[in-house]
Amino acid sequence: MRKIIIAIDGHSSCGKSTMAKALARELGYIYVDTGAMYRACTLFAIRNGLFNGDTLDADRLASLLPTIEVGFQLCEATGLPHVTLNGEDVEEAVRTMEVSTKVSPVAALPAVRTAMTTQQQRMGEAKGIVMDGRDIGTVVFPQAELKVFVTARPEVRAQRRFDELQAKGQAVSFEEILHNVQERDRIDSTRAVAPLRPAEDALILDNSDLTREAQAEWLFAQAKARMA
Ligand code: DC
Repeated sequence: MRKIIIAIDGHSSCGKSTMAKALARELGYIYVDTGAMYRACTLFAIRNGLFNGDTLDADRLASLLPTIEVGFQLCEATGLPHVTLNGEDVEEAVRTMEVSTKVSPVAALPAVRTAMTTQQQRMGEAKGIVMDGRDIGTVVFPQAELKVFVTARPEVRAQRRFDELQAKGQAVSFEEILHNVQERDRIDSTRAVAPLRPAEDALILDNSDLTREAQAEWLFAQAKARMA
C-alpha cells in the first residue's frame, strides 16, 4: 500500500479533528491539527499583551514570530500529539473561548500563515499523514491524494462545541458559541490569504445528520481506495 497525504478541511466545530484523529489511528498515520498551531500563536499573542480588547498588534506579532516555536509532542497518557508553544504543552490552554474568539485575526496574518505553512509542509514530506485545517487541500498540500471538505449546519456545530465545553466545565452560552462559530466562518472565508474554501477536487461531506460511525466508515473507504 502506498503512503498518501490526506487533507481534511472545513468549517469550525464540524468534528474534523475527531474524524481525522480516528482515521490516522486506523491507518497508522501521523495526525496534525493545524488549527492548534494557529491557536498556539494566539495564546502567545494573548500572553504577551498583543491584544488590546479584540484588536491585535499585528506588526508586533510579526516581529516576534522568530521567537515562537510551535510543535507537537506525544502525550504518553493518551498516545495523541499535544501542541506545544516554546516547549510547553498548551493543548488544554489553546481550547478556551478566549483563544477561540481571538484566533481568526492571528490566522489571517500573512507572516503567521507563511511560518505555519512551511512547517506543515515539512511535516508531510514523508507522506503517511492526516492533516486537518482550513487550507490544507488548497495551499499546504494541493497535491494531496485525498481531500475532504467537511461542513455541517451552524446550529449543529454550535451545539457540538457547547456540549464539549460544558463537559469541560466551561460556562458559556449557546448563543455566544453560535455567534463565535458564525463569526469565525465569516472571517475565515473572507480573509485575503488562504481563505476557507473547498479545493476543486475535494469531496464535500455534510455531516449534520451523519453518525460518527457512518462518517468514519465512509472516510476509511475513501482513503483505502487511494492507497491501493
Ligand atoms: O480548527 P480550529 O477551530 O481549532 O482552528 C482555529 C482557527 O484557526 C480557525 O478559526 C481558523 C484557523 N485555521 C486556519 O486559518 N488555517 C488552518 N489550516 C487551520 C485553522
